[in-house]
Amino acid sequence: MCFSTRKVSYSRVGQKLKPSAIASVMTTALENPNILSLAAGFTDSHTLPVLDVGNAVKDLLSRPGLPECLQYGPNQGRPELCRQVAKRLMEQDGVPFSKEDSKKVFMTNGSQQALFLATQVLCDMGDIVFVESPSYFVYLEMLKGQGVEARPLPIDEAGMIDHQSFERELIAMKQSGEINRVKAVYLVSYFSNPSGESRSEAEKVKLGELLQRLDEPIAVIEDAAYRDLYFETEYPARSVVSLDAFNGISCLYLATLTKPFATGLKIGSGFCTDQEWLKRILWLKGHHDFGSSNFTQAILETVFLDGGIDRQLGLIRRVYSEKMKVLHTALCEEGLVEIGWKWRIPLGGLYLWLKAPNSLDTRMKSAFWKACCCNEVMYIPGDLCYGNTMQCFDYVRLSFGVLNKREMVEAATRFVKTAKDFF
Ligand SMILES: Cc1ncc(COP(=O)(O)O)c(C=O)c1O
Repeated sequence: MCFSTRKVSYSRVGQKLKPSAIASVMTTALENPNILSLAAGFTDSHTLPVLDVGNAVKDLLSRPGLPECLQYGPNQGRPELCRQVAKRLMEQDGVPFSKEDSKKVFMTNGSQQALFLATQVLCDMGDIVFVESPSYFVYLEMLKGQGVEARPLPIDEAGMIDHQSFERELIAMKQSGEINRVKAVYLVSYFSNPSGESRSEAEKVKLGELLQRLDEPIAVIEDAAYRDLYFETEYPARSVVSLDAFNGISCLYLATLTKPFATGLKIGSGFCTDQEWLKRILWLKGHHDFGSSNFTQAILETVFLDGGIDRQLGLIRRVYSEKMKVLHTALCEEGLVEIGWKWRIPLGGLYLWLKAPNSLDTRMKSAFWKACCCNEVMYIPGDLCYGNTMQCFDYVRLSFGVLNKREMVEAATRFVKTAKDFF
């Protein structure tokens, strides 16, 4: 059967859609199996929790009575899993857990779906979401696809939010009426993708205070996808949903079980402090799928109750910490620092964020990109991680998630060899 040749007429969003950057990177990698990819933010398949998932499945399927976990589940998510997720967040933030907290949680098909739902409920074409520079490029692509402007939050030399400039900018927008287009501030505040940096509690508090003073309906989306993936110690900042400075501000905290546990189960969650926003997110989710996979959630619920999440985290924190050191050391030993490349050693997450010397253009299709492909090593070009009006062409994101140590050393050798050719 051939594809239809008849044309259809696309919506405004449909017309704007483009293949995602990561899809292009993957295609290039698939076309040449010898390529070693430091690009994709996948987890390490060798550490995925086969035993825990297997035991949970056996346990679930051998329970007497009707196989409720093989039936559709609630749109918002399995109540016990929502309770576990809320309890965990309150424990991490060091605040008391109450039954009400469970009602603020919804389970999604990865935190990516939560991001999509939350944004679609808030934003029309032409609206604005303030984002960090750099930020999570898949979200930036999503905003672009929906015709929403990703405007850079003012950031100072040290990479901290420049609250004074931000307040000035927002006040000017208030005076001009443009503020009505500002719908949210999006933060990737723990071991960020791509920078590996975290936002201190003091920075978040100042942001909350600023938004209180501004008194406009601007939401805060805190994406904590990597919060659990610290190497040695937890990052000591509570989330926005537990800080008094955000009382009365609509906050959505996103967590995921894909990075810290079984990636392919693809379950994430939102914790929303605004009942109305949550209600609408859930209505929209009803249109999407009327509930994420009940069986998958049941597996995670079983693993949570059995302590499997923490067991797995104990393992992968060690593994990723070692892998980060392997990649960092290999890049140093091959001489990347000597030719002017710079990066900071992250304290968690899955990425190294490198700045190239001499304004080297690292964009996709640049000479450097092509040379890396020729030398069979891949990276994520840093320019993808900046909002609409920012232009930064000389960064590179390298992931130490997927490749094993031997492959990573080889990938680092190829990368540095290429970099030397451009020095
Ligand atoms: C910052 C950030 N947020 C959200 C996600 C989405 O993750 P998932 O849908 O697997 O929960 C990712 C995935 O890489 C990410 O890096």
